[in-house]
Amino acid sequence: MIRLNEEGLGCKVSTQDIERSLAQHPSLMESCWAGTPHGTDWLGWLSVDQWAGPQELARIHALADRLRKKTDTLVLIGVGGSNNAARAVLSALGLADPCHRVVYAGNTLSAWTLRKLLESLEGHEVALFCVAKNFRTLEPGSSFRLLRQHLVSQLGKRAAAERIVCNGTPGSDLERLCSDEGYTFTTFPPNVGGRYTALTATHLLPLAYAGIDIDALVKGARAEESELRRLPDHANPALRYAHLRSLAGRSGLTIELLASFEPRLADFGLWWQQLFGESEGKQGRGLFPACARYSEELHSLGQYVQDGTHQLMETFLDIAEPGPDDHLVLGSSDVADGFAYLDGVDFWDINKASFHAVLKAHASVLPCATIEIGRLDEQHMGALFYFFMLSCYCSAELLGVDPFDQPGVEAYKQLMHHALGRVE
Ligand code: PA5
Repeated sequence: MIRLNEEGLGCKVSTQDIERSLAQHPSLMESCWAGTPHGTDWLGWLSVDQWAGPQELARIHALADRLRKKTDTLVLIGVGGSNNAARAVLSALGLADPCHRVVYAGNTLSAWTLRKLLESLEGHEVALFCVAKNFRTLEPGSSFRLLRQHLVSQLGKRAAAERIVCNGTPGSDLERLCSDEGYTFTTFPPNVGGRYTALTATHLLPLAYAGIDIDALVKGARAEESELRRLPDHANPALRYAHLRSLAGRSGLTIELLASFEPRLADFGLWWQQLFGESEGKQGRGLFPACARYSEELHSLGQYVQDGTHQLMETFLDIAEPGPDDHLVLGSSDVADGFAYLDGVDFWDINKASFHAVLKAHASVLPCATIEIGRLDEQHMGALFYFFMLSCYCSAELLGVDPFDQPGVEAYKQLMHHALGRVE
C-alpha cells in the first residue's frame, strides 16, 4: 500500500547502494521480526492485532460512545507519543464529526495557551482523556490538574468523574488517583513504548470519539503489516527506506528533511519527527529529522536545500490520488494578470507540477526519495504509521542504537525538576 520511489536517488546514495547494503545485512529483517537484539520487551506494536484486535476495538468503541453521549469536546491530555499520532490523523483527515471535537492539552506549559484552551471550553460539554505512561511528565501532569479542577468546578466531583478517562501504567500514581476519585482507568500497553502507540487505544480512543473510522485505520495497518511480512527483503519498501537512511548517514549526511506538498500532513510530520528523533538520536548518531511544508517553505528553506551546505537527504511524502475535495479549477480571467497559462487548470495538477519540478531540482544536488500513499484516508494513514514504525526500528538497528529508549530526555528533566523544587 505504501510505495518507495527511488527515482530521485543518485547523488551520494543510489539504488545500487541500497541493493548492496541489503546483501550485507541478509538477516536484519528476520531478526527485527524476532525482536533481537533490542526489541524483546517492546514489540507489542509489531503485530497490529495485539493491541487493536476485534475485542479491543469493541471496547474502544464502547468507551468512546459513552463519552460521546454526554459530551461534545474531548480534551486529549498528553505529550510526545501520547498525543502525536491522534493529532496527526485528525489534522490530516479533518473532523469526521463536527459535533465531537478533540482539543489538546498536556503538550505545553504556556499560560496563554492554557488560558485560551479553558476559554474555548466555555459553553461546551467536556470530557478529559489523560494519557501518561508513568505520570511523571510535567506537561500532562500539570494540565490534568488544571482541567480536572476546571471540570469539578463546573459539574461537581461525581459528575466530573464520569467524564474523566485515563490511560496509564498499572501501579502508577495515575492508577491510584483514578481509583481514589472514581475515574475510568485504562491500561497503557506495557510492551509498547510511547512513540510506537499509534495503533493502540492510546490514540484510537480519541479518534473514535471524533468519529474517525478506526476500523478502517486498523485495517490499513493490518494490511501493511501482512504485506511487509510477506515481501522479500529486496522488495520491502520499509526495509529499503531504512537502508537508504543508513547509507545517507554513512555518506556524511546529517539531516533528513521530510517534505510534503500537502499542509494537512504537517502534524504527521511532527509524529514522524518524534519517532525518528527519539528512537535514533543517541550516542552521537542519527540523522536529524526535520520537516518542510511545501510549497510555502520552498520560498524559505528551499534556498538552503538547493544551495546550502548539502548535509541533507530529502524524503517526499506524496499522495497519489486526489480525494473528493482535492479538486479546484482556476477559472480564466479577462484581466491580464500574467497567469493566463493557468486558465482552467486544477490546483491538484498545479501542486503536482510543482512537486515534480522540485524533486528534479533537489535530486540534482542531494539524495531524494518519495514515499507514496494512494489516498489520504483512514486506511492509508494506518498503513503509513505501520510502515514508518517498522522502518524506524530497522533503521535504528542498522545504526546500532536501541530504538526503544530515550536516555537523553532525562538531562533537562532533572534540571527542570530541581528548579521547580520537585522531591524525587
Ligand atoms: O516515546 C516516548 O516514550 C515519549 O515520547 C513519551 O511518549 C513522552 O515523553 C510522554 O511520556 P508520558 O506518557 O509518560 O507522559
